[in-house]
Amino acid sequence: MDQERLLRELSEFLRIPSVSTLPAHNQDCRAAAEWVAAELRRLGCRDVEFLGSATHPVVSGKGPDVPGAPTLIIYGHYDVQPPDPLAEWTNPPFEPTIRDGKIYGRGTADDKGQVFCLLKAIAASPRPPINFRFLIEGEEEYGSKVLFDLLKREPQRVRADAVLVADMSYVAPAWPAVYTTLRGLCYAEITVRTSKTDLHSGEYGGAAPNAHEELCRLLTRLKGEDGKINIPGFYAPVKRPPKAELAAWKKLPFTEKDFLQKRVQGKALVGLKKYSVLERLWALPTFEIHGILGGFTGEGAKTVIPAEATAKVSRRLVPNQKLATVERQLAAAVQRLAPKYVTATVRFLHGADPAQIKVDHPAFTLLGEAFKEVTGRASVPARAGGSIPVVPALASAGAPVILTGIGLPDDRLHAPNEKLDLKQLWDGIEVFSRFYELLGKK
Ligand code: BES
Ligand code: MN
Ligand code: MN
Repeated sequence: MDQERLLRELSEFLRIPSVSTLPAHNQDCRAAAEWVAAELRRLGCRDVEFLGSATHPVVSGKGPDVPGAPTLIIYGHYDVQPPDPLAEWTNPPFEPTIRDGKIYGRGTADDKGQVFCLLKAIAASPRPPINFRFLIEGEEEYGSKVLFDLLKREPQRVRADAVLVADMSYVAPAWPAVYTTLRGLCYAEITVRTSKTDLHSGEYGGAAPNAHEELCRLLTRLKGEDGKINIPGFYAPVKRPPKAELAAWKKLPFTEKDFLQKRVQGKALVGLKKYSVLERLWALPTFEIHGILGGFTGEGAKTVIPAEATAKVSRRLVPNQKLATVERQLAAAVQRLAPKYVTATVRFLHGADPAQIKVDHPAFTLLGEAFKEVTGRASVPARAGGSIPVVPALASAGAPVILTGIGLPDDRLHAPNEKLDLKQLWDGIEVFSRFYELLGKK
């Protein structure tokens, strides 16, 4: 493997600031799509197309035809999350830097480095006997609308023998994984209005309602100190994992103490105390506040009673919960919990249903063999706390969706100083190239 050349090429991809959620980066998203398309053409793909959007297209392509060989769809995303807070990056987020065997930069692990790995694994083996199909999208981090619409129009695009998604991590160093569930997501803005305009806090303070105060109270009613989400019906469809699965989790190299000290790096864990931390992360729904807007947040001081406040919130959903239902439940709960004298509104930004994947198809065994040959350990089944909105749609034609990845749990996805360990990348290229060979022999 010509590691230097590969790192040069990966760095080119990482330097493109393809942040899908910020319109100012539309042209950069397009540029990242062009990079993927050029790479597919280098692999000998035909019918390389941009679909569904001029700025955030799905890049689609077909590998060289191999009659009689299985069809494998490779899914990934070239968009990334915003890089802020910029001051916390040791190196600028879009100037990839190698230190101590790791490459740092936005998108290194999520998901450009992993897309790169899947593609380079094709070139690494002598012509794997696989009919490759590529669906590399550009707005996974913003709800995947373009790809959803494409698959609704053209459902035959997911007809295949298997779908490979490398957008996750090992469960621990040296412990590769395949994932049996993904949480869904319901992202919303809750806005509270208390008066026509902002008011002088001396003239009005003590008697006029305050939008921020009302919003905070509303939020703490929606989720209590004990971690319980108080939205009627929300937990009703949630099932506990089977006993055998809970027992298998105990054998994973995960301790709550290490999770707190090494990963969270805080002083305590919170949430539903009755359940193990892994159950809270993998099998229970959440309610998180991402940011609160409104009022005075500039430098210095301003004495004002804000008339309006907005919270960006999301809930993670677990199998059997339905996006459409939980949207209705939140809208109703907000109306019920807000006092009569405030106007509360809920606006839904994007969302995803949860996914549940059976891992008994032979393709999972072959991937396990490939991991075992290269890393010494076969992939173990685990659950994922994160979401990939389009996974249920990728599974809709019946192909097994293989959720796996080469990241490590400490890659700092969505956070400052995101990184990918180079050993994971080099191993990953070997693993997937071996997987393609094994799958092609079937
Ligand atoms: N790669 C992640 C999903 C992921 C992260 C799965 C960690 C398993 C473990 C993906 O890029 C992601 O961040 N998805 C978003 C989706 C959302 C913005 C619709 C997420 O989970 O927040
Ligand atoms: Mn991702
Ligand atoms: Mn992500």
